[in-house]
Amino acid sequence: MAKHEGYLSAKESRRISKENRRITNELEKKRKRKNVPEEEYTTRMHNENNAVEFDNLHTYFYTDAGTVKSVDGVTFDVPIGKTVGVVGESGCGKSVTSLSLMQLLQRPQGQVVEGEIRLNLGDGKAYDIAKIPAEKMQKLRGNYISMIFQEPMTSLNPVFRIGQQVDEVIALHEGEGKTKDEIKARTIEMLKTVGIANSEGVYAMYPHELSGGMRQRVMIAMALACNPRIIIADEPTTALDVTIQAQILDLLRNLKDRINSSIMLITHDLGVIAETADYVVVMYAGRVVEKGTVEEIFAHPAHPYTIGLMASKPVVGKQVDKLYSIPGKVPNPIDMPNYCYFKDRCEMCVEGCDGAYPCEVSLSPTHKVSCYRYYDKKGAE
Ligand SMILES: Nc1ncnc2c1ncn2[C@@H]1O[C@H](COP(=O)(O)OP(=O)(O)OP(=O)(O)O)[C@@H](O)[C@H]1O
Ligand code: SF4
Ligand SMILES: [Mg+2]
Repeated sequence: MAKHEGYLSAKESRRISKENRRITNELEKKRKRKNVPEEEYTTRMHNENNAVEFDNLHTYFYTDAGTVKSVDGVTFDVPIGKTVGVVGESGCGKSVTSLSLMQLLQRPQGQVVEGEIRLNLGDGKAYDIAKIPAEKMQKLRGNYISMIFQEPMTSLNPVFRIGQQVDEVIALHEGEGKTKDEIKARTIEMLKTVGIANSEGVYAMYPHELSGGMRQRVMIAMALACNPRIIIADEPTTALDVTIQAQILDLLRNLKDRINSSIMLITHDLGVIAETADYVVVMYAGRVVEKGTVEEIFAHPAHPYTIGLMASKPVVGKQVDKLYSIPGKVPNPIDMPNYCYFKDRCEMCVEGCDGAYPCEVSLSPTHKVSCYRYYDKKGAE
């Protein structure tokens, strides 16, 4: 950044663009290689019971204003058959983490620059998504990992009928040897599974003829059509009213159990997390500040940011004049401080908070927190 905050001279901007082009061209060239030997991206899971392991993931965006460190060293696991809730305020890197797993980052500026994303393929085999070439990734998307996006209207194509769109997904991933009628029958079965009553009628409808809840169900049908091992649900119910929200979450949970897959559920709604998740990951400014089981995080929140989040949610039956809000704002992702990222907003600072970014401290085998307040109690790892 230039000396005057928020101001970049034309010369400086040109220099950054040139440097960005150099870095991203190099990374893109590597990613687009053909016939890459499998050993280059084959790895081993650290724990075979995990479906995905994010390990020190760094995802940056090379913009003309500078490098945005959207995900800056994220480590957490998604165990097989479990739901992991990822929470944190807007812009903390939740979506970028999941898009890194899908390899759907806006390229060339968005790039995974460091770390591993291990995807469990079973039989002791795993791929590192951070290194996998683009052509190989296409086969994993849909079959192993699928994503349900926040806004179904922008994800469904308005000019094609619902049936055509679900048929296309099924034909692409499991259509080999199937006739058109068999694919249609599978689509109608999927629409029924996600609770659409008039599934044959809906098959012939356009997206604008459905309600928001129905569109979200269609998105879920598409995401689950090929029995993926991991389902990423990025704010799947934010645009829906609470009764439909509860139905959709129930549906996701039931379908997940039926095909024994895992869910990575991204939301800013702590109520949704409490109801749906087994584990919780709390992110702040591109880092994981706390993680643990849902009971640990809700009964014993440890990081001042998590404590603030809990205090700022409304509680039924508890009367308050004004809901608590965490003071201050998130640091600029282009110019992160070299101390705890939450320090400028923290109301619980202790001696040592001026030091380097705090390491992770284990409060239990599953509960970890990055904060100086716990250094004496357990010792940093
Ligand atoms: N295409 C992009 N180019 C530049 N910066 C980006 C891009 N996409 C995301 N970012 C930046 O990455 C950071 C993390 O964004 P992300 O979308 O992951 O936030 P989020 O936690 O999902 O927030 P929300 O709750 O609002 O969806 C933000 O600072 C954002 O500005
Ligand atoms: S390390 Fe210090 S500043 Fe950071 S969250 Fe913990 S107490 Fe607050
Ligand atoms: Mg998001």
